[in-house]
Amino acid sequence: MSYELKVDDKETTDRAAGLSQGLLGTAADRPEGVLKVTGRATYAAEDMPEGTAFGVLVRAPAMGRVELGNAPAVEKLPGVLAVIHDKRMLRNPAQGMAGEAPVQGVAEADYVGQPIALVVAGSFEQARHAAEVMEVRCLGEIRPVSPGAVEPEVPEKKQSSMGDLDAAMAAAVHKVDATYSTSAMSSAAMEPHAALAWWEGDKLTVRASLQMLKYNRAELADSVGIPLENVRILSPYVGGGFGSKLGVSPEVVAAAIAAQQLGRPVRVVLNRRQVFETITRRSETEQHIRLAADGEGRLTGVGHDALVSNLPEEPFSEPVTQATPFNYEGAARTIGHRVARIHRPAAGSVRAPGEAVGVTAFEIAMDELAVAAGIDPVELRLRNIPAEVPGTGKPFSSHMLAESLNDGAARFGWADRAAEPRARREGEWWIGSGVASAFRVNMLSEAEARVVLGPEGAIVETDMTDIGTGTYAILGQIAGELLGLPQEKVEVRLGDTAFPPGSGSGGSIGAASTGTAVWLAAQEVRAALAKEMGCEPDDLTLKDGRATCGNISRDIAELISGESLEGHGHVQPGDASSKVKQATFGAHFAEVAVNDVTGEVRVRRMLGSFAAGRILNLKTARSQCHGGMTWGIGMALTEELVHDRRDGHMVNRDLAEYHVAVNADVPPLEVHFLEERDPWTGPMQVKGIGELGICGAAAAILNAIHHASGVRLRDLPATPDKVL
Ligand code: MOS
Repeated sequence: MSYELKVDDKETTDRAAGLSQGLLGTAADRPEGVLKVTGRATYAAEDMPEGTAFGVLVRAPAMGRVELGNAPAVEKLPGVLAVIHDKRMLRNPAQGMAGEAPVQGVAEADYVGQPIALVVAGSFEQARHAAEVMEVRCLGEIRPVSPGAVEPEVPEKKQSSMGDLDAAMAAAVHKVDATYSTSAMSSAAMEPHAALAWWEGDKLTVRASLQMLKYNRAELADSVGIPLENVRILSPYVGGGFGSKLGVSPEVVAAAIAAQQLGRPVRVVLNRRQVFETITRRSETEQHIRLAADGEGRLTGVGHDALVSNLPEEPFSEPVTQATPFNYEGAARTIGHRVARIHRPAAGSVRAPGEAVGVTAFEIAMDELAVAAGIDPVELRLRNIPAEVPGTGKPFSSHMLAESLNDGAARFGWADRAAEPRARREGEWWIGSGVASAFRVNMLSEAEARVVLGPEGAIVETDMTDIGTGTYAILGQIAGELLGLPQEKVEVRLGDTAFPPGSGSGGSIGAASTGTAVWLAAQEVRAALAKEMGCEPDDLTLKDGRATCGNISRDIAELISGESLEGHGHVQPGDASSKVKQATFGAHFAEVAVNDVTGEVRVRRMLGSFAAGRILNLKTARSQCHGGMTWGIGMALTEELVHDRRDGHMVNRDLAEYHVAVNADVPPLEVHFLEERDPWTGPMQVKGIGELGICGAAAAILNAIHHASGVRLRDLPATPDKVL
């Protein structure tokens, strides 16, 4: 079955047909969970074919033109098979998924740390040793590495303006005019980037840790210079991506080229420092925010100007203001975007690109407005919820920000909060609480899937990935729900480009997009079963392995008499987004303690209320929000990539020096979902949840720091030196 989300084609029913199992929406376990925690799930670097050789990437110690000084000598070291510096490994911003993850390589290093060669040997230790003794001569000059050192580009199509913001600011009773900054951040996925490549004739197979296989396949074919159909990528298990595995990265291209040259399988695994240094980072941002409000705190004007950075020619730039056109009321609106071209590692998508940092700064500004106006910050937000996208007449497909704020406030105990800062002290700790709204655009992406129903159960196949998000679980739930099968009777096969192309995992599109493809495929199987039963699909009930129509009831396995039924699902976004605005909404609440003596901040509790359409699996959806809120704690308090101001090299390129929030930093996190049905999102009425939990989370903490201690911070992270 095929489905295209068209203007005036919205689903008007709740599509109850087929929902008789009660499996969808439950907190079902991940079917692959036991394999993962017992080490039996094979990740990219595992399961090596006989004769695998080992490649280690060599980094440029400086930028500019580089030469490999002693390659012939290195090639004679014990076990070394080759030193590879192939021009196909060059960084090419034209490649990569929307240019989000460039292919990086040889000859001209655009930044310190860029991979410039691959050393391959019979053992990993030999390859590592050879890579370490490789002499790399750098003939380059220092280029700008700080956003402040260059005149930024002003991309025309990223500027927008309506009304007269200056006039609104001049006439405002209450206003905010301030600049906020967020630090560069790393995805720091748990599984380091890895690839294992081998050739059979002119056919290339690569096991890799990637998020978007159908795009990655095209990128790799393009990079290596072979036809698409000669490339197969396998990514059955991915140990986290967060954007860093959206596009093919250096190890994938290098492994493919080395395996071709040597005629044997080659494995390339990045070490942790290489992961930090060569994988796309989140750009640092500088955000000038202006808010104009009347005496009741109602916004009359909004200004949001962002400065981000990236390497020259990279098409990606952190979409900081993505939620600003629709977040709150305000007739006058100016949005600006500038990109500083500097020579640090390429910037790319990191979890909730745009809103993660843009909503965060904006929600601190909203807190400042609440303080300036003497209005409770929850109430201020409630007063500014727009009925439609401001200035466009475009309605929201669904909108539950008010419900999220009210639900969260009630559960958090917001009513007991003192209006003034510095109202509560315990020993040397100031205690306070803060709120922030969460916004994230909702997108649907083209996806296909196959569902085969046989006598033993069903099989779901798509090249979709599970990057730790729960894809195996939810796709099994969807197929099981519609086919009347328990989850264990549905086998979900993912991460193989030989399967129908799914959406991939990125931009919170996976569950809604590929899930809908599975839904449609299962509906096709249902239609075939209904035909066997001689009834309409909508009158068919499939439950506990039985098919029922009116007073006829039959065993499903018997009904298909040993045969199998195949369904194909294909979903396309269509043009509905031109008519309605789709987004997810939520509210974050945080309580912090701020040490009056040391400036240390501890998050004591955190609560989020979220609305994201139909929740497919309570457990995996909640885990996504826990993860996003945990990232919010890191963004608020500790996460910051530090670049040397002379040559831009990344100073803290490991998990000892780059501080992600760990167990000791994270208090119990409470997550609540609001029931929402959005008829515009497709037949399942699902929206993406993966990135909502990080959007604005850090602002709730920064706002709580102000409420606790009276210290207003506009520069993240809020390290003790800034708090004191
Ligand atoms: Mo996401 S940052 O689009 O993987």
